[in-house]
Amino acid sequence: MEKKWWHGKTAYQIYPKSFYDSNGDGIGDLPGIIEKLDYLQELGIEILWISPVYVSPCADQGYDIADYYGIDPKFGTMEDMDRLLEETKKRGIAVLMDLVVNHCSDEHEWFRKALEDPDGEYGKYFYIEDMKDGALPTNWSGYFGGDVWEPIPGTDKCYLHVFHKKQPDLNWENPKVREEIYNMVNWWLDKGLAGFRVDAIVNIKKPLPFTSYPADRDDGRSSMDQVLKHASGIGEFLGELRDRTFASHDAFTIGEVFNVSDDEMADYIGENGYFSSMFDFRQTLEGKSILGWLDSRIPSPDDYKRCCFESQAQGEACGYLANIIENHDEPRGVSHYLPKHAQHETGKKLLATMYFMQKGLPFIYQGQELGMENKGDWTIEEIDDCSTHGEYQRCLEAGCSEERALEIVSHYSRDNARTPFQWDDSAQAGFTNGTPWLVVNETYKKINAAEQVTRADSVLSYYKKMIALRKNPQYAETIVYGKTEPIMTEEHDIMAYFRRGEGRDLFVIGNFDCISRTVEVSEMTAKAKVLLNNCEDFELSEGMLTLKPHQALVVAL
Ligand code: GLC
Ligand code: CA
Repeated sequence: MEKKWWHGKTAYQIYPKSFYDSNGDGIGDLPGIIEKLDYLQELGIEILWISPVYVSPCADQGYDIADYYGIDPKFGTMEDMDRLLEETKKRGIAVLMDLVVNHCSDEHEWFRKALEDPDGEYGKYFYIEDMKDGALPTNWSGYFGGDVWEPIPGTDKCYLHVFHKKQPDLNWENPKVREEIYNMVNWWLDKGLAGFRVDAIVNIKKPLPFTSYPADRDDGRSSMDQVLKHASGIGEFLGELRDRTFASHDAFTIGEVFNVSDDEMADYIGENGYFSSMFDFRQTLEGKSILGWLDSRIPSPDDYKRCCFESQAQGEACGYLANIIENHDEPRGVSHYLPKHAQHETGKKLLATMYFMQKGLPFIYQGQELGMENKGDWTIEEIDDCSTHGEYQRCLEAGCSEERALEIVSHYSRDNARTPFQWDDSAQAGFTNGTPWLVVNETYKKINAAEQVTRADSVLSYYKKMIALRKNPQYAETIVYGKTEPIMTEEHDIMAYFRRGEGRDLFVIGNFDCISRTVEVSEMTAKAKVLLNNCEDFELSEGMLTLKPHQALVVAL
């Protein structure tokens, strides 16, 4: 496999609105990120993905873009962006922005013009269809609930939006639209961005002509996951996007791509693939139902382990995947993958070890390095996220009580990941001097960066050690490129794997059980060197290793 500059790095996702507010308006901003760059540098971060800061009415928190060439005033100015690029460069940090081009905002100039003249030039930038006798063109079910078609007032037409109705889908079949997108991408890359995280990109190819598909839910609709299976030819768009933009800039790109089959992997992230890498979402999707959160189930540690190993095998065959335990669309990883009895600092370090030591590019989502947790006890009024409100409605429609509906969405809500970053134990977790746009998680008095920076056994200190280990010249080759070889796969609540490198092997093991566990590890002898341990000591005698509850070890064999 050809080595790339980014393989050995550790990446970090910033959700700007909730990271750090520099001017007291309750909204995190670019100057706020700049102020915290030293924190990120000390952590060891070398790649930064910044969720959208473009001009946006924020119906979907910046993923609805009204001007791709402008920074929204609530996040700062273009000068701030330029300064961020300079300051990150000084610190050896590469910056990725979010590329959101499946759709734009209904407040984008293109869409305004489209509404003025649906049959004109800009109407063709979108999917605008006739309603026949008031009937919608298809029965597709939107990701945030409800129909994907929105009637255009004063006409018998409607437009397509697979996400929020304020996010009209861009018509990629129109070469002019693609041209506009490539110009914009090149403009940003010329500015000095290292690349992009590419949003919702699997949606750009629709199955045409528009037609309904068999219902997969009670309301007669067909979910987008099913619909997209009928679309073919996305590779032509993705290849063109790569050739016209990323390739000439040697950009680093990471796709938000779901459900790629083994056969398609090479096209996506192989040699000259559409993207440099893509996220491994196998764990994220585990237990999730296309019907929604009501029908979803929380994965067990054994599920988690199986998913990881399946993806490791898939990634080994081709390319280099990116590993996560959470992002801005998911519950906090420690609240989702850890059993209740493991939801403490030792358990959090266990989960961190298991994901971080796998092959792939690790992404840390802001606050993950502190072990930030789901807020959990939401009221529906406190929730901002549009998808949570959609899911809440679905629960009610399915007959849940309000209490039950709230309980369900409280676990999965995207706002769990979006509560303000917990900087210290002062008011509003030190995130803002004003009123935060979204409530602070009450745990900030115990879980915050200021406290963890000073404590050698904090979750934060542990993440620093892991990141440093990934860069340690003695082990980097194995950690970055070594083959993952699962063992003890049938051992309930134990996750263990070797990393086989050139001339050096590592052994990684974790106990998700609430009791001590003894396993046989013949390869681990007395001369094995412990590189990471989330507990004080460990027991090894005659090839038998005893792990404390929630213990994790990384060992050089
Ligand atoms: C992606 C983003 C998510 C957004 C959606 C629509 O999945 O991660 O936050 O709502 O795309 O842009
Ligand atoms: Ca602000």
